[in-house]
Amino acid sequence: MNLTNQTILITGGTSGIGYHLAVRLHENNNKVIICGRRKDRLSEISSAHPGIDTYVCDMEDADQRVMLAEWAINTHPSLNVLVNNAGILHYVDLTKPVDQQQLTAEVTTNLIAPIHLSGLMIAHLQKQENPAIMNVTSGLAFTPIANMPVYCATKAGMHAFTMSLRHQLKNTSIKVFEIIPPAVKTNLGKSDGNDDTGHDAMDVKEFVEQVLLVAEQDQYQKGIGIAEGLVAQRDALFDVINH
Ligand SMILES: NC(=O)c1ccc[n+]([C@@H]2O[C@H](COP(=O)([O-])OP(=O)(O)OC[C@H]3O[C@@H](n4cnc5c(N)ncnc54)[C@H](OP(=O)(O)O)[C@@H]3O)[C@@H](O)[C@H]2O)c1
Repeated sequence: MNLTNQTILITGGTSGIGYHLAVRLHENNNKVIICGRRKDRLSEISSAHPGIDTYVCDMEDADQRVMLAEWAINTHPSLNVLVNNAGILHYVDLTKPVDQQQLTAEVTTNLIAPIHLSGLMIAHLQKQENPAIMNVTSGLAFTPIANMPVYCATKAGMHAFTMSLRHQLKNTSIKVFEIIPPAVKTNLGKSDGNDDTGHDAMDVKEFVEQVLLVAEQDQYQKGIGIAEGLVAQRDALFDVINH
């Protein structure tokens, strides 16, 4: 996949992986469009990086997802790459009643929204040159951490969805990537007052460089760093059980 002169929409571009990926792709002469809920942060980013286009969107809201897709396609007809990156993580104690609102938010943001948005974009992407969809899942899709049960379930769901999407689009020109991160130093999960990313979490800029390599080499499913081992070990166990 060529990563210059593309038109790329990244969901969740206001911080962490999405932000650093956006800046790096912008520096690489791509047209980059980011969205997020925080209007002030989006304005700050477009001022600091003239040329990055921004759109306020709460991915939890289906109508806003439809408006985002319509706006992005109409404003940027050359849009050819969608990066489904926006995500949230909550720590959930399953010995207590689950907070229904928080549950819905996590499942919607991490799973329903990217499935819906991909569906809204596919007809457009198919008409473009070098189209691609890149889904950011997690090593935890393969081996869950039990105190983040909903998050891990959504990421396992996104992994399964990505496999199906790649299969269904195999006769089209749309390339479907799954980037499987390890722990990366970002704000993820910090809203719950936890900071479990640990001292061995990967630097976000280093992670982004790996993502670019993976995309350029057309590695359609790739675990980065320690996540590569999580994927490989599960694949190996699958083979053991099934042969
Ligand atoms: N960091 C890690 O260790 C790690 C590991 C594996 C996978 N990942 C995945 O990497 C992706 C990016 O996470 P990150 O680590 O970069 O975390 P982050 O720094 O917290 O960034 C999350 C991004 O998602 C956006 N977002 C969240 N909810 C949204 C909503 N309802 N509507 C629109 N945008 C929303 C946030 O923007 P606003 O707040 O402005 O809305 C923000 O830009 C996620 O899918 C995450 O699951 C991260």
